[in-house]
Amino acid sequence: MKVTATTKELKTEIEGEKASHFLEDILAGLRQHPKKLESKYFYDRRGDELFQKIMEMPEYYLTRCEMDIFKNKTAEIASSIRAEQTPFDLIELGAGDASKSIYLLQYLKQQGTDFRYRPIDISGNILSVLENKLKDNIPDLDIESLEGEYFDMLHKASQFSERRKVILFLGSNIGNMELEEAYRFCFELRKNLNKGDVVMIGFDLKKEPNIILNAYNDPSGVTASFNLNLLQRINRELNADFIIDQFEHFETYDPLTGACRSYLISLQEQQVKVGHHIFDFKENEPVYMEVSQKFSIDDINKMASQSGFQSHGNISDSKEWFVDAFWTAI
Ligand code: TRP
Repeated sequence: MKVTATTKELKTEIEGEKASHFLEDILAGLRQHPKKLESKYFYDRRGDELFQKIMEMPEYYLTRCEMDIFKNKTAEIASSIRAEQTPFDLIELGAGDASKSIYLLQYLKQQGTDFRYRPIDISGNILSVLENKLKDNIPDLDIESLEGEYFDMLHKASQFSERRKVILFLGSNIGNMELEEAYRFCFELRKNLNKGDVVMIGFDLKKEPNIILNAYNDPSGVTASFNLNLLQRINRELNADFIIDQFEHFETYDPLTGACRSYLISLQEQQVKVGHHIFDFKENEPVYMEVSQKFSIDDINKMASQSGFQSHGNISDSKEWFVDAFWTAI
């Protein structure tokens, strides 16, 4: 990097670096057997829009359940994060547009709580939406958003602060990791915290299998478009030539393991070019997209105790379909 680089040059350099990570990850995924595409790349501008649509669908109950918790059990949440005690940094991983946490932020401000809000997200686009919204709604909120990967940004947020930390990781985003990855994530999270810090994690519960399957397999096809949008993004940003109509979204839910998995199926034998790399797809070959893991209360407690936390309570919605779990770092 040139010492005299201007802000614009720096920005272009960061953009370039991001694009090369994107390319490397996509190529690596397509070279695997079975082929895999990383779901963190779902969230470009169009992906953000489609995800907002998913959250409004009648079948997609997760957001409404967690919203019920944030709207109707706000005081309970505040006491579970020990808001009345020492000042803290409230760090939200994958904040999105903060549509749920805004209720907590408002409540804490009304109570005169001393805290700072640090939303982290991979989508710079959604973070600017969030900042505008919060500036309008809670003008005296101390907010600084961080665009990037969870741990890089958590590290950055911790560097300049001695305060106690409260981590929010909502929306069953933890379910989008394979189970062992989720365990590693909690362990890594614990390493970045001090004894007594608190985490609040949203888990979608195991329930009647069709309710779960329908949430990810809506008849209007929004979830399908959300998955297929990644192919469009690869075409646009990585000079690829996926023919979108030649792939079909397919969803499964396994009540034994609690894993809900999405795939894109190649509808015919075909070749796809990504940059100057060529990939062969067989007819009916699946490309694995993402897991949305479901949990029992026992699964959740086990995860806490095996990664250096002690559970100090769960808050569920009125249907008892979803819980926010509260863990203390020990
Ligand atoms: N974490 C949420 C979930 O698992 C949101 C989400 C991530 C999602 N990827 C998705 C929703 C794909 C629908 C489809 O449900």
